[in-house]
Amino acid sequence: MTAGAFWQEEVVYQIYPRSFMDSNGDGIGDLRGIISKLDYLKELGVGIVWLSPVYKSPNDDNGYDISDYRSIMDEFGTMEDWEELLHGLHERGIKLIMDLVVNHSSDEHAWFEESRKSKDNPYRDYYIWRPAGENGGEPNNWLSFFGGSAWQYDEATNEYYLHLFTKKQPDLNWENPKLRREVYDMMNFWLDKGIDGFRMDVINCISKADGLPSAPGGERYAWGGDFFLCGPRLEEYLKEMNEQTLSRYNAMSVGEMPGVPTDLAAVYTDPANRAVNMVFHFETMDIDSGEGGKWNLKPWKLADLKAVTGKWQYALNGKGWNSLYLNNHDQPRMVSRFGDDTVYRKQSAKLLATFLHTLQGTPYIYQGEELGMTNVRFESIDDYRDVELLNFYREAVGERGVPHEQAMASIYAKGRDNARTPMQWNAGPQGGFTTGEPWIGVNPNYTEINAQEALGDPDSIFHYYKRLIALRKKHPIMIYGDYTLLAEEHEQLYAYTRQLGEEKWLVLLNFSGQQIEAGAGLPFEEGAELIISNYGDAAARLDASAELLALRPYEALVYRLA
Ligand code: NOJ
Repeated sequence: MTAGAFWQEEVVYQIYPRSFMDSNGDGIGDLRGIISKLDYLKELGVGIVWLSPVYKSPNDDNGYDISDYRSIMDEFGTMEDWEELLHGLHERGIKLIMDLVVNHSSDEHAWFEESRKSKDNPYRDYYIWRPAGENGGEPNNWLSFFGGSAWQYDEATNEYYLHLFTKKQPDLNWENPKLRREVYDMMNFWLDKGIDGFRMDVINCISKADGLPSAPGGERYAWGGDFFLCGPRLEEYLKEMNEQTLSRYNAMSVGEMPGVPTDLAAVYTDPANRAVNMVFHFETMDIDSGEGGKWNLKPWKLADLKAVTGKWQYALNGKGWNSLYLNNHDQPRMVSRFGDDTVYRKQSAKLLATFLHTLQGTPYIYQGEELGMTNVRFESIDDYRDVELLNFYREAVGERGVPHEQAMASIYAKGRDNARTPMQWNAGPQGGFTTGEPWIGVNPNYTEINAQEALGDPDSIFHYYKRLIALRKKHPIMIYGDYTLLAEEHEQLYAYTRQLGEEKWLVLLNFSGQQIEAGAGLPFEEGAELIISNYGDAAARLDASAELLALRPYEALVYRLA
């Protein structure tokens, strides 16, 4: 860990451009829309913006299918707009990281259009082509992340290509040094323009196991993750990429890595290894999934949140670095999932914010999180847009006969469109997002939950985030302090200390809608001083003579002990 790097000390804000702000009334968020909101980001105090993809794309997966890595998507604006955005951010002291989507491209990328033409095309080897398997069907039994086979037959050459996501997202062949060179040159193209780093989309999928073996079990389609997650050459590729690009610019990197175990994450994020600065793991996102994946709902338990968080806090301490998030454009809204989006919406959103900003690592805020935006419940499946969600519905209801209501319950809880409804700027038409028809409906609660309301209320979730971010700048213990879990068995209370040198903080979080008593085993010290709390009237000093401390629903308290 290199103490003092900007990517450790700043808070990151993720923008999903399609849903952030529309400047021209076409119902789609765009770059000029983002430019018009830069002062809002400055006011919040974030130091880094992560921009989800803005490159040319047919939008099968909203920009995660790129047809030209070096130009801007028409709906979002022009390269000049993008330059102005970068400049506007830098002027305000905010860095910009771009999304790097290089496990796959779009099937409309010129490379793929060439590649599919003939077996001896110079671009053939930019992708992963195989003849039919033994039984005449797909080359192996891998399932795609979005359901169905991960292989698509292509008539022109009578072979199949691999796509771990949709069939419009063919996987790039990282075994090919020419492809790798193209990727590094493209990264340097953006770094030369002055960006500050990359968020790397499913970057731990780029190295596939030799021979692409079928997943065991003999099923027609099966999860083949063992053969493409953190594969044999991943570390080598990450290091090569770092050496050829990032390290030459002092740029930051965060790798999205489904299924990454802590020991490998510690290797990848160890500064001595020069691979990536941090990873997004998915273990927290899995605590409410049953057998068979995310759509199979299971109530989450605080014990699991403690176990996963602690595992990562301890495993990377002094070795690598953690990224801290509870939602993004692929996940439901955190207040609906881990808090209470009705009676205690404000309290629980602040509690979750306190949690994220008092762990060791770099916090990531997803647009609208700072307003306590919630999940949405559209009545009709026709109002949904996300390819993963629609595939699930078609497959569950259409093929497996799952009742509509049951499928919708999964979609309400887990669908990615929960995160993709437009940013709620004010109580005016379409929440101030667009003067036109938005590409996806606005959450009807925009009349109460919106930025204008939040900015005007000193007690709002927004202002609480602002305080947390400002505190983190002032107190290195929030960034670097060691984490120690307390009261492990408590079913509603999440308590831990952070320690840096002689300084020690106590964090108490009531993850329930009931009043609870905290006591046994907690280090109450006379005179401990309140740093922040989400109820206005918390005791400014801890009373050490009291054996028990009552915490109100979703109350969060942070005290400095020593
Ligand atoms: C992860 C991205 O975050 C998600 O939105 C996308 O669908 C897949 N990777 C494929 O690029």
